[in-house]
Amino acid sequence: MSQPTRIGIVGCGSVMQRPYMRLIQPLRAAGAVDVTIACDVNEDVRPVVRDRLGIPSFTTDYEEVIDSEEVDLVMVLTSMLEHGPITRAALTAGKHVLVEKPMAVTLDEAAEIVEMARHSPGLLVCAPHVVLSATYQAMWRHIHRGDIGKVLMTRARYGHAGPDWRPWFYLEGGGALFDLGVYNITCLTGWLGPAKRVMAMTGVAIPERVVGGKMMRVEAEDNAHVLIDWGENVFGVVSTGFTMQKYRGPALEVYGSQGTIQMMGDDWDPSGYELWRNDVGAWQIYEGADRLWTWTDGLRHLVDCIRNDETPIVQPEHAFHVLEIMLKAQESGRDGQSKTIESVFTPPTFEDDREEVAEHLVHDRTQR
Ligand SMILES: NC(=O)c1ccc[n+]([C@@H]2O[C@H](COP(=O)([O-])OP(=O)(O)OC[C@H]3O[C@@H](n4cnc5c(N)ncnc54)[C@H](O)[C@@H]3O)[C@@H](O)[C@H]2O)c1
Repeated sequence: MSQPTRIGIVGCGSVMQRPYMRLIQPLRAAGAVDVTIACDVNEDVRPVVRDRLGIPSFTTDYEEVIDSEEVDLVMVLTSMLEHGPITRAALTAGKHVLVEKPMAVTLDEAAEIVEMARHSPGLLVCAPHVVLSATYQAMWRHIHRGDIGKVLMTRARYGHAGPDWRPWFYLEGGGALFDLGVYNITCLTGWLGPAKRVMAMTGVAIPERVVGGKMMRVEAEDNAHVLIDWGENVFGVVSTGFTMQKYRGPALEVYGSQGTIQMMGDDWDPSGYELWRNDVGAWQIYEGADRLWTWTDGLRHLVDCIRNDETPIVQPEHAFHVLEIMLKAQESGRDGQSKTIESVFTPPTFEDDREEVAEHLVHDRTQR
Protein backbone atom coordinates (compact mmCIF):
# COMPACT_ATOMS: atom_id res chain seq x y z
CA MET A 1 0.00 0.00 0.00
CA SER A 2 1.26 3.53 -0.77
CA GLN A 3 2.38 5.85 2.00
CA PRO A 4 -0.28 8.05 3.63
CA THR A 5 -0.72 11.53 2.18
CA ARG A 6 0.78 13.88 4.77
CA ILE A 7 -1.50 16.79 5.59
CA GLY A 8 -0.63 20.17 7.11
CA ILE A 9 -3.59 22.28 8.23
CA VAL A 10 -3.69 26.08 8.39
CA GLY A 11 -6.62 27.44 10.41
CA CYS A 12 -7.89 25.35 13.31
CA GLY A 13 -11.28 26.93 13.98
CA SER A 14 -14.79 25.60 13.89
CA VAL A 15 -14.64 23.92 10.48
CA MET A 16 -11.29 22.25 11.08
CA GLN A 17 -12.05 20.96 14.58
CA ARG A 18 -15.37 19.38 13.71
CA PRO A 19 -16.44 18.66 10.10
CA TYR A 20 -12.99 18.24 8.52
CA MET A 21 -11.57 16.26 11.47
CA ARG A 22 -14.64 14.00 11.35
CA LEU A 23 -13.62 13.10 7.80
CA ILE A 24 -9.88 12.98 8.55
CA GLN A 25 -10.19 10.52 11.47
CA PRO A 26 -11.42 7.55 9.39
CA LEU A 27 -9.00 8.40 6.55
CA ARG A 28 -6.22 8.45 9.13
CA ALA A 29 -7.39 5.15 10.62
CA ALA A 30 -7.41 3.61 7.13
CA GLY A 31 -3.82 4.71 6.55
CA ALA A 32 -4.76 7.03 3.66
CA VAL A 33 -3.65 10.23 5.42
CA ASP A 34 -1.58 11.43 8.29
CA VAL A 35 -1.80 14.93 9.79
CA THR A 36 1.75 16.00 10.58
CA ILE A 37 1.34 19.64 11.58
CA ALA A 38 -1.38 22.23 12.21
CA CYS A 39 -1.21 25.99 12.44
CA ASP A 40 -3.33 28.73 13.91
CA VAL A 41 -2.50 32.30 14.89
CA ASN A 42 -4.52 31.66 18.03
CA GLU A 43 -2.21 29.98 20.57
CA ASP A 44 -5.23 28.88 22.60
CA VAL A 45 -5.97 26.04 20.16
CA ARG A 46 -2.53 24.43 20.67
CA PRO A 47 -3.76 22.00 23.38
CA VAL A 48 -6.86 21.14 21.34
CA VAL A 49 -4.73 20.33 18.31
CA ARG A 50 -2.16 18.28 20.21
CA ASP A 51 -4.20 16.56 22.90
CA ARG A 52 -7.70 16.22 21.53
CA LEU A 53 -7.01 15.94 17.80
CA GLY A 54 -3.72 14.00 18.17
CA ILE A 55 -1.71 16.16 15.74
CA PRO A 56 1.96 15.98 16.78
CA SER A 57 3.14 19.47 15.83
CA PHE A 58 1.62 22.96 16.19
CA THR A 59 2.81 26.35 14.98
CA THR A 60 1.47 29.89 14.76
CA ASP A 61 3.37 30.58 11.52
CA TYR A 62 1.83 29.12 8.36
CA GLU A 63 5.17 29.32 6.54
CA GLU A 64 6.32 26.44 8.73
CA VAL A 65 3.53 24.26 7.37
CA ILE A 66 4.27 25.25 3.80
CA ASP A 67 8.04 24.74 4.15
CA SER A 68 7.71 21.42 5.96
CA GLU A 69 9.15 18.43 4.12
CA GLU A 70 6.66 16.32 6.01
CA VAL A 71 3.66 17.91 4.29
CA ASP A 72 2.29 16.85 0.89
CA LEU A 73 -1.12 18.55 1.13
CA VAL A 74 -1.95 21.91 2.73
CA MET A 75 -5.52 22.53 3.87
CA VAL A 76 -6.38 26.25 4.02
CA LEU A 77 -9.19 26.58 6.55
CA THR A 78 -8.65 30.14 7.77
CA SER A 79 -10.97 33.12 7.50
CA MET A 80 -11.45 34.21 3.90
CA LEU A 81 -9.02 37.15 3.55
CA GLU A 82 -6.11 34.78 4.25
CA HIS A 83 -7.08 32.10 1.69
CA GLY A 84 -5.37 33.72 -1.31
CA PRO A 85 -1.91 34.42 0.15
CA ILE A 86 -1.66 31.02 1.88
CA THR A 87 -2.86 29.12 -1.22
CA ARG A 88 -0.35 30.94 -3.42
CA ALA A 89 2.49 30.21 -1.02
CA ALA A 90 1.54 26.52 -0.79
CA LEU A 91 1.33 26.11 -4.58
CA THR A 92 4.67 27.88 -4.97
CA ALA A 93 6.16 25.32 -2.59
CA GLY A 94 4.78 22.54 -4.85
CA LYS A 95 2.19 21.28 -2.35
CA HIS A 96 -1.26 19.93 -3.11
CA VAL A 97 -3.84 22.37 -1.75
CA LEU A 98 -7.42 22.24 -0.53
CA VAL A 99 -8.76 25.75 0.08
CA GLU A 100 -12.09 26.59 1.64
CA LYS A 101 -14.30 29.05 -0.23
CA PRO A 102 -13.61 31.47 -1.74
CA MET A 103 -10.09 30.67 -3.02
CA ALA A 104 -9.28 34.42 -2.81
CA VAL A 105 -11.25 37.61 -2.33
CA THR A 106 -10.06 39.44 -5.47
CA LEU A 107 -10.20 38.29 -9.08
CA ASP A 108 -6.56 39.24 -9.72
CA GLU A 109 -5.35 37.04 -6.90
CA ALA A 110 -7.68 34.20 -7.91
CA ALA A 111 -6.49 34.44 -11.55
CA GLU A 112 -2.92 34.14 -10.36
CA ILE A 113 -3.83 31.07 -8.29
CA VAL A 114 -5.61 29.36 -11.21
CA GLU A 115 -2.62 30.02 -13.46
CA MET A 116 -0.21 28.73 -10.82
CA ALA A 117 -2.30 25.58 -10.37
CA ARG A 118 -2.01 24.85 -14.10
CA HIS A 119 1.77 24.69 -13.86
CA SER A 120 2.28 23.53 -10.30
CA PRO A 121 3.16 19.90 -9.50
CA GLY A 122 0.49 20.13 -6.78
CA LEU A 123 -3.25 19.66 -7.33
CA LEU A 124 -5.65 22.40 -6.24
CA VAL A 125 -9.17 21.68 -4.99
CA CYS A 126 -11.30 24.71 -4.10
CA ALA A 127 -14.45 24.45 -1.98
CA PRO A 128 -17.37 24.14 -2.21
CA HIS A 129 -17.31 20.48 -3.19
CA VAL A 130 -21.01 20.25 -4.07
CA VAL A 131 -20.41 18.73 -7.52
CA LEU A 132 -19.24 15.59 -5.71
CA SER A 133 -22.62 14.76 -4.17
CA ALA A 134 -24.56 11.92 -5.77
CA THR A 135 -27.68 14.10 -5.77
CA TYR A 136 -25.96 16.89 -7.71
CA GLN A 137 -24.63 14.33 -10.20
CA ALA A 138 -27.98 12.55 -10.61
CA MET A 139 -29.65 15.90 -11.29
CA TRP A 140 -26.90 16.73 -13.79
CA ARG A 141 -27.71 13.44 -15.61
CA HIS A 142 -31.45 14.19 -15.76
CA ILE A 143 -30.84 17.72 -17.00
CA HIS A 144 -28.27 16.69 -19.61
CA ARG A 145 -30.17 13.77 -21.02
CA GLY A 146 -33.10 16.10 -21.61
CA ASP A 147 -35.57 14.79 -19.02
CA ILE A 148 -36.89 18.32 -18.41
CA GLY A 149 -36.31 19.60 -21.96
CA LYS A 150 -34.40 22.83 -22.54
CA VAL A 151 -33.54 24.62 -19.31
CA LEU A 152 -35.22 28.03 -19.20
CA MET A 153 -35.11 29.24 -15.60
CA THR A 154 -33.56 28.43 -12.21
CA ARG A 155 -34.06 29.51 -8.62
CA ALA A 156 -31.77 28.80 -5.67
CA ARG A 157 -31.73 29.67 -2.01
CA TYR A 158 -29.39 29.24 0.91
CA GLY A 159 -29.42 31.23 4.10
CA HIS A 160 -29.55 31.12 7.86
CA ALA A 161 -29.55 33.54 10.77
CA GLY A 162 -25.77 34.11 10.49
CA PRO A 163 -22.66 32.78 12.27
CA ASP A 164 -22.35 33.99 15.85
CA TRP A 165 -18.78 32.89 16.58
CA ARG A 166 -16.49 35.17 14.53
CA PRO A 167 -16.78 38.82 13.42
CA TRP A 168 -14.89 38.26 10.11
CA PHE A 169 -18.02 36.79 8.51
CA TYR A 170 -19.48 40.33 8.62
CA LEU A 171 -16.39 42.35 7.65
CA GLU A 172 -14.48 43.00 4.41
CA GLY A 173 -13.75 39.67 2.71
CA GLY A 174 -16.79 38.04 4.35
CA GLY A 175 -20.50 38.34 3.60
CA ALA A 176 -23.39 36.07 2.74
CA LEU A 177 -22.42 35.57 -0.90
CA PHE A 178 -18.93 34.25 -0.15
CA ASP A 179 -20.18 32.18 2.77
CA LEU A 180 -23.53 30.88 1.51
CA GLY A 181 -24.52 31.96 -1.99
CA VAL A 182 -21.32 30.35 -3.27
CA TYR A 183 -22.90 26.87 -2.95
CA ASN A 184 -25.95 27.75 -5.05
CA ILE A 185 -23.92 29.51 -7.73
CA THR A 186 -21.54 26.54 -7.98
CA CYS A 187 -24.44 24.12 -8.51
CA LEU A 188 -26.28 26.27 -11.03
CA THR A 189 -23.20 26.99 -13.14
CA GLY A 190 -22.18 23.32 -12.86
CA TRP A 191 -25.52 22.27 -14.36
CA LEU A 192 -26.04 25.12 -16.85
CA GLY A 193 -22.43 26.06 -17.68
CA PRO A 194 -20.79 29.48 -17.61
CA ALA A 195 -23.02 32.51 -17.01
CA LYS A 196 -22.84 35.61 -19.18
CA ARG A 197 -24.16 38.44 -17.02
CA VAL A 198 -25.08 39.23 -13.44
CA MET A 199 -27.16 41.87 -11.68
CA ALA A 200 -27.92 42.06 -7.97
CA MET A 201 -29.40 43.77 -5.01
CA THR A 202 -27.06 43.35 -2.05
CA GLY A 203 -26.91 45.16 1.26
CA VAL A 204 -26.76 45.10 5.02
CA ALA A 205 -30.19 44.41 6.46
CA ILE A 206 -29.05 43.98 10.08
CA PRO A 207 -26.42 46.69 10.68
CA GLU A 208 -25.53 45.64 14.24
CA ARG A 209 -25.12 42.14 15.61
CA VAL A 210 -23.86 40.39 18.70
CA VAL A 211 -21.01 38.12 17.60
CA GLY A 212 -18.76 36.27 20.03
CA GLY A 213 -20.60 38.01 22.87
CA LYS A 214 -19.84 41.54 21.57
CA MET A 215 -21.89 44.04 19.61
CA MET A 216 -20.38 44.82 16.19
CA ARG A 217 -21.15 46.87 13.06
CA VAL A 218 -21.79 44.77 9.97
CA GLU A 219 -19.85 45.87 6.85
CA ALA A 220 -20.22 43.00 4.38
CA GLU A 221 -23.58 42.25 2.72
CA ASP A 222 -25.88 40.04 4.77
CA ASN A 223 -28.77 40.03 2.28
CA ALA A 224 -28.65 39.41 -1.48
CA HIS A 225 -30.77 38.60 -4.50
CA VAL A 226 -28.59 37.83 -7.49
CA LEU A 227 -29.93 37.57 -11.03
CA ILE A 228 -27.87 35.46 -13.40
CA ASP A 229 -28.18 35.46 -17.19
CA TRP A 230 -26.97 32.45 -19.18
CA GLY A 231 -27.82 33.97 -22.56
CA GLU A 232 -30.74 33.14 -24.87
CA ASN A 233 -33.04 34.56 -22.17
CA VAL A 234 -32.27 31.78 -19.68
CA PHE A 235 -32.29 33.38 -16.25
CA GLY A 236 -31.71 32.37 -12.63
CA VAL A 237 -32.03 33.95 -9.21
CA VAL A 238 -30.00 33.17 -6.09
CA SER A 239 -31.43 34.37 -2.77
CA THR A 240 -28.98 34.27 0.10
CA GLY A 241 -28.47 35.98 3.41
CA PHE A 242 -27.70 35.89 7.09
CA THR A 243 -31.30 37.00 7.20
CA MET A 244 -33.23 33.73 7.01
CA GLN A 245 -34.32 32.10 10.25
CA LYS A 246 -35.85 29.00 8.66
CA TYR A 247 -37.37 27.80 5.42
CA ARG A 248 -39.00 24.76 3.93
CA GLY A 249 -39.08 23.81 0.29
CA PRO A 250 -36.48 23.06 -2.33
CA ALA A 251 -32.99 24.58 -2.25
CA LEU A 252 -32.61 24.63 -6.01
CA GLU A 253 -35.19 24.56 -8.78
CA VAL A 254 -34.50 24.06 -12.47
CA TYR A 255 -37.36 24.69 -14.88
CA GLY A 256 -37.20 23.23 -18.39
CA SER A 257 -39.47 23.28 -21.43
CA GLN A 258 -40.69 19.75 -20.59
CA GLY A 259 -40.44 19.50 -16.81
CA THR A 260 -38.95 20.60 -13.50
CA ILE A 261 -36.26 19.19 -11.25
CA GLN A 262 -35.63 20.41 -7.70
CA MET A 263 -33.14 19.59 -4.96
CA MET A 264 -34.43 19.01 -1.44
CA GLY A 265 -32.37 19.81 1.66
CA ASP A 266 -29.46 22.16 0.97
CA ASP A 267 -26.95 21.75 -1.82
CA TRP A 268 -24.17 21.16 0.74
CA ASP A 269 -26.42 18.60 2.48
CA PRO A 270 -28.90 17.24 -0.07
CA SER A 271 -31.73 15.00 1.05
CA GLY A 272 -32.88 14.06 -2.45
CA TYR A 273 -34.60 15.53 -5.47
CA GLU A 274 -37.97 15.65 -7.16
CA LEU A 275 -38.53 15.35 -10.88
CA TRP A 276 -41.58 16.37 -12.87
CA ARG A 277 -41.69 15.28 -16.52
CA ASN A 278 -44.61 16.30 -18.72
CA ASP A 279 -44.42 12.96 -20.54
CA VAL A 280 -44.74 11.10 -17.22
CA GLY A 281 -47.32 13.49 -15.80
CA ALA A 282 -46.35 12.99 -12.15
CA TRP A 283 -43.72 13.89 -9.57
CA GLN A 284 -41.02 11.26 -9.08
CA ILE A 285 -39.25 11.50 -5.73
CA TYR A 286 -35.67 10.34 -5.24
CA GLU A 287 -34.04 10.03 -1.81
CA GLY A 288 -31.14 8.57 0.05
CA ALA A 289 -28.28 8.86 -2.43
CA ASP A 290 -26.27 11.06 -0.06
CA ARG A 291 -27.08 9.64 3.38
CA LEU A 292 -23.36 9.33 4.20
CA TRP A 293 -22.05 12.19 2.07
CA THR A 294 -20.55 15.23 3.77
CA TRP A 295 -19.71 18.64 2.31
CA THR A 296 -16.05 18.15 3.30
CA ASP A 297 -15.82 15.38 0.67
CA GLY A 298 -13.41 17.44 -1.47
CA LEU A 299 -10.66 16.29 0.89
CA ARG A 300 -11.39 12.58 0.29
CA HIS A 301 -11.58 13.32 -3.44
CA LEU A 302 -8.26 15.20 -3.45
CA VAL A 303 -6.52 12.44 -1.49
CA ASP A 304 -7.91 9.82 -3.91
CA CYS A 305 -6.66 11.88 -6.87
CA ILE A 306 -3.19 12.25 -5.33
CA ARG A 307 -2.95 8.54 -4.55
CA ASN A 308 -4.29 7.41 -7.95
CA ASP A 309 -2.60 10.12 -10.02
CA GLU A 310 -5.91 11.48 -11.31
CA THR A 311 -7.23 14.97 -12.07
CA PRO A 312 -9.85 16.26 -9.60
CA ILE A 313 -13.30 16.90 -11.00
CA VAL A 314 -13.61 19.93 -8.70
CA GLN A 315 -11.88 22.49 -10.91
CA PRO A 316 -10.20 25.79 -9.96
CA GLU A 317 -11.60 27.38 -13.15
CA HIS A 318 -15.15 26.69 -11.93
CA ALA A 319 -14.38 28.26 -8.53
CA PHE A 320 -12.89 31.27 -10.35
CA HIS A 321 -16.05 31.68 -12.44
CA VAL A 322 -18.22 31.54 -9.32
CA LEU A 323 -15.98 34.13 -7.64
CA GLU A 324 -16.33 36.44 -10.65
CA ILE A 325 -20.13 36.18 -10.39
CA MET A 326 -20.06 36.94 -6.65
CA LEU A 327 -17.67 39.90 -6.92
CA LYS A 328 -19.60 41.37 -9.84
CA ALA A 329 -22.88 40.83 -7.99
CA GLN A 330 -21.42 42.88 -5.12
CA GLU A 331 -20.38 45.61 -7.61
CA SER A 332 -23.83 45.53 -9.16
CA GLY A 333 -25.36 45.85 -5.70
CA ARG A 334 -23.35 49.04 -5.23
CA ASP A 335 -23.89 50.75 -8.60
CA GLY A 336 -27.14 49.19 -9.81
CA GLN A 337 -25.66 48.16 -13.18
CA SER A 338 -25.57 44.69 -14.72
CA LYS A 339 -22.09 43.22 -15.21
CA THR A 340 -20.68 41.03 -17.96
CA ILE A 341 -19.08 37.79 -16.82
CA GLU A 342 -15.93 37.15 -18.79
CA SER A 343 -14.56 33.87 -17.50
CA VAL A 344 -15.59 30.48 -18.87
CA PHE A 345 -14.96 26.92 -17.75
CA THR A 346 -16.01 23.43 -18.79
CA PRO A 347 -18.29 21.88 -16.17
CA PRO A 348 -17.59 18.30 -15.10
CA THR A 349 -19.63 15.69 -16.93
CA PHE A 350 -20.94 12.38 -15.57
CA GLU A 351 -21.77 9.11 -17.27
CA ASP A 352 -25.42 8.34 -17.75
CA ASP A 353 -26.03 5.74 -15.04
CA ARG A 354 -29.75 4.98 -15.13
CA GLU A 355 -29.55 2.03 -12.77
CA GLU A 356 -27.97 4.09 -10.01
CA VAL A 357 -30.59 6.81 -10.47
CA ALA A 358 -33.43 4.24 -10.39
CA GLU A 359 -32.13 2.79 -7.12
CA HIS A 360 -33.07 5.98 -5.27
CA LEU A 361 -36.56 6.36 -6.69
CA VAL A 362 -38.72 6.04 -3.56
CA HIS A 363 -42.01 7.38 -4.76
CA ASP A 364 -43.38 7.26 -8.27
CA ARG A 365 -47.01 8.31 -8.61
CA THR A 366 -47.16 6.73 -12.05
CA GLN A 367 -47.01 3.34 -10.26
CA ARG A 368 -50.29 3.80 -8.35
N1 LIG B 1 -18.36 27.56 9.65
C1 LIG B 1 -18.97 26.89 8.70
O1 LIG B 1 -20.08 26.37 8.89
C2 LIG B 1 -18.30 26.71 7.39
C3 LIG B 1 -18.81 25.78 6.51
C4 LIG B 1 -18.14 25.57 5.33
C5 LIG B 1 -17.00 26.26 5.05
N2 LIG B 1 -16.51 27.20 5.89
C6 LIG B 1 -15.28 27.91 5.56
O2 LIG B 1 -14.22 27.42 6.38
C7 LIG B 1 -13.30 28.47 6.69
C8 LIG B 1 -13.13 28.56 8.19
O3 LIG B 1 -14.37 28.79 8.81
P1 LIG B 1 -14.57 28.62 10.38
O4 LIG B 1 -16.00 28.72 10.64
O5 LIG B 1 -13.78 27.44 10.83
O6 LIG B 1 -13.85 29.94 10.90
P2 LIG B 1 -13.12 30.16 12.29
O7 LIG B 1 -12.95 31.63 12.45
O8 LIG B 1 -13.79 29.37 13.35
O9 LIG B 1 -11.68 29.49 12.03
C9 LIG B 1 -10.68 30.10 11.26
C10 LIG B 1 -9.37 29.94 12.01
O10 LIG B 1 -8.31 30.44 11.19
C11 LIG B 1 -7.36 31.05 12.03
N3 LIG B 1 -6.52 31.95 11.25
C12 LIG B 1 -6.86 33.15 10.70
N4 LIG B 1 -5.79 33.66 10.03
C13 LIG B 1 -4.80 32.76 10.14
C14 LIG B 1 -3.46 32.71 9.65
N5 LIG B 1 -2.94 33.69 8.90
N6 LIG B 1 -2.69 31.64 9.96
C15 LIG B 1 -3.19 30.63 10.72
N7 LIG B 1 -4.46 30.63 11.21
C16 LIG B 1 -5.25 31.68 10.92
C17 LIG B 1 -8.21 31.75 13.10
O11 LIG B 1 -7.46 32.03 14.27
C18 LIG B 1 -9.31 30.72 13.33
O12 LIG B 1 -9.00 29.82 14.38
C19 LIG B 1 -13.89 29.72 6.06
O13 LIG B 1 -13.30 29.93 4.83
C20 LIG B 1 -15.35 29.40 5.86
O14 LIG B 1 -15.88 30.06 4.76
C21 LIG B 1 -17.13 27.41 7.06
